[in-house]
Amino acid sequence: MVKVTVCGAAGGIGQPLSLMFKLNPYVTTLALYDVVNVPGVGKDLSHIDTDTKLESYLPENDGLEKALTGSDLVIIPAGVPRKPGMTRDDLFAINAGIIRDLANGIAQFAPSAFVLVISNPVNSTVPIVAEILKKSNVFNPQKLFGVTTLDCVRANTFVAELSKDKEASAFDTRVLGGHSGETIVPVFSQSAPEVYKELSDEQKAALVHRVQFGGDEVVKAKNGAGSATLSMAYAGYKLGHALLAAINDTPGIIESTFVYLKDSKIKGATEAYKYINEKLKDSDSSDVDFFALPVVLSSNGIEEIKWDILEKVDAKETELLKIATGQLSKNIAKGTAFIAGN
Ligand code: NAI
Repeated sequence: MVKVTVCGAAGGIGQPLSLMFKLNPYVTTLALYDVVNVPGVGKDLSHIDTDTKLESYLPENDGLEKALTGSDLVIIPAGVPRKPGMTRDDLFAINAGIIRDLANGIAQFAPSAFVLVISNPVNSTVPIVAEILKKSNVFNPQKLFGVTTLDCVRANTFVAELSKDKEASAFDTRVLGGHSGETIVPVFSQSAPEVYKELSDEQKAALVHRVQFGGDEVVKAKNGAGSATLSMAYAGYKLGHALLAAINDTPGIIESTFVYLKDSKIKGATEAYKYINEKLKDSDSSDVDFFALPVVLSSNGIEEIKWDILEKVDAKETELLKIATGQLSKNIAKGTAFIAGN
């Protein structure tokens, strides 16, 4: 019996994401929550002849409480997306408050659920959720995931375009750091070495840049109608499905996610935290408490952090990781301060 809740279910990401969860055999109840339009989305999906039970809730009549109570996995694509010319950080002013309120609901009504945060800026919204859960003494780092899967998905697609003989599905690229611009660091030297070593330095730089700013391609092509929704729904579903499979005892699944490191008991967290803060960050920037890294999933959520990839990356990637930590430390501090100041 697994209940999944999608917060922001009537949006551009929320609708296709909910459709995919309605088709997932692990999910017994799918609860949709949004501030608008969700009864229509829920009614529509409820006609699909899979066995997943559909519930949909607006805020009135304790909708958030009902959507979250008993939930095992909460996935959050709620909030506003980018328009051309905006950075993800420009979304903070609106999305930070939305995420804070949803996190308060999770702390109260679904304190032991797995939480997957899609809403941008992920580098700051995930720290907001962590701070709220800490305040309520229900924070479990094994269960909080910042969704950076789309960066891995894009990296696989883009590197395949440069490969002579392999399709996108042949790649499993690890992307480290965070989820915005230069905080996104794909490590092709470890993930796709056979393609990477054939590239010139210019081609390598162009490939990395394309992954870092791939979201802008979509924002530009949509021309004011938002950012990635369908590829994002796929990516969010990919992580969600991997977690559901792990909860149902499929061993050894590895996915990358933006994970909390400081004082965490997760295997590999201390090593990751030390390596990032001692070797990849200026001593005058504030601590980088979160980082996107490959993690091993289990029925507990994040079982182990595969931090040793940090030691294996090449010199250029190390340089990129150092740039990433400088920005990340500011983004994380911004999220943390938002809750401290509220
Ligand atoms: P959208 O505007 O189409 O949908 C957002 C939905 O959230 C709307 O239905 C809206 O009514 C709902 N919402 C607003 N306030 C809410 C609240 N308090 N509680 C519940 N629902 C609420 O936006 P879209 O395109 O679906 O993007 C959603 C978020 O995902 C944006 O912040 C976007 O930047 C982010 N995103 C993240 C990516 C990632 O890789 N992590 C990739 C692409 C987008």
